[in-house]
Amino acid sequence: MQISQLIKSLPKAELHLHIEGTLEPELMFELAQRNNIQLPYASIDEVRKSYEFHDLQSFLDVYYLGASVLRTRQDFFDLTFAYLEKAHEDGITHTEIFFDPQTHTKRGVLFEDIIMGIADALAKGKEEFAISSYIIMSFLRHLSEDDAFEVLELAKPYYKYIKAIGLDSAEVGNPPEKFKNVFAKALDLGFLTVAHAGEEGPAENIRNSLELLKVQRIDHGVNCVQDDKLLEELIYKKIPLTICPLSNIKLKVFQHMKEHNIRDLYLKGACVTINSDDPSYFGGYLADNYFECQRHLNFSFIELIQIAKNSFRASFLSEEEKLLKM
Ligand code: ADE
Ligand code: ZN
Repeated sequence: MQISQLIKSLPKAELHLHIEGTLEPELMFELAQRNNIQLPYASIDEVRKSYEFHDLQSFLDVYYLGASVLRTRQDFFDLTFAYLEKAHEDGITHTEIFFDPQTHTKRGVLFEDIIMGIADALAKGKEEFAISSYIIMSFLRHLSEDDAFEVLELAKPYYKYIKAIGLDSAEVGNPPEKFKNVFAKALDLGFLTVAHAGEEGPAENIRNSLELLKVQRIDHGVNCVQDDKLLEELIYKKIPLTICPLSNIKLKVFQHMKEHNIRDLYLKGACVTINSDDPSYFGGYLADNYFECQRHLNFSFIELIQIAKNSFRASFLSEEEKLLKM
């Protein structure tokens, strides 16, 4: 069997996936037409050609523009189910997906339509593909903490659909301490927490996410190597890092896969996981990310099995569910 087939046949959990980042250009065009929205692209080809990024912000601008075609409950259902079909092909048996409500509510989309479209598709994915899932509601860190408090309030009738709270968007200039109070409220309400940190920002953001936001995992976290003591602590405490290799290349966190530090982190004993982040924009879904790690960083298949096991260990499944899935 080819390595790519072996990778697909390996049961895996995906822990860092923005549902808006799975919007393929074909569906973008279909939804634009359905919702009478004018896109600044003449063709699907032109959309793909615009996916040249030099940093996180240059990506976010294109990504928020793409998300503007999502308007109805059916749109969110179609988006999520299309991802689950791909996830099933890739051997994903559990997924924990982010959604960014503020990207949509700011345009007048109802919170209920966003979350119920996603939740209905996840329920169908469980039935058809036996993929279990959790939803992580993420705050946009370029907006204010008051704004995040408003979303937390807006989400109240739907808390049962939300497992955890996350923090994403532009990291530089928007450190975790900006969201200390709203995360304290979310923790009081019983949510788990995660945060993007150490993607473009400093190792200090990782430490402050752990200490102030009480996160269970760090999303990305590759800049932890800037601080030896922090790295030691991450390894000792087995804090999972949800690393997204293809994303880091597309956004120029590393210039080439051969330079990525995921294998060093793995060999040092960190609990690393492989994830796809925004696969439609970054040129590959989960199995592609595993494959690129194998191809350029010489991960053996046994090591990839260990990383797939880490993905379940680092998930929010119960200990019993983890054992059944691993
Ligand atoms: N939103 C979607 N993808 C993201 C990323 N890689 N970093 C921060 N925010 C994001
Ligand atoms: Zn992300």
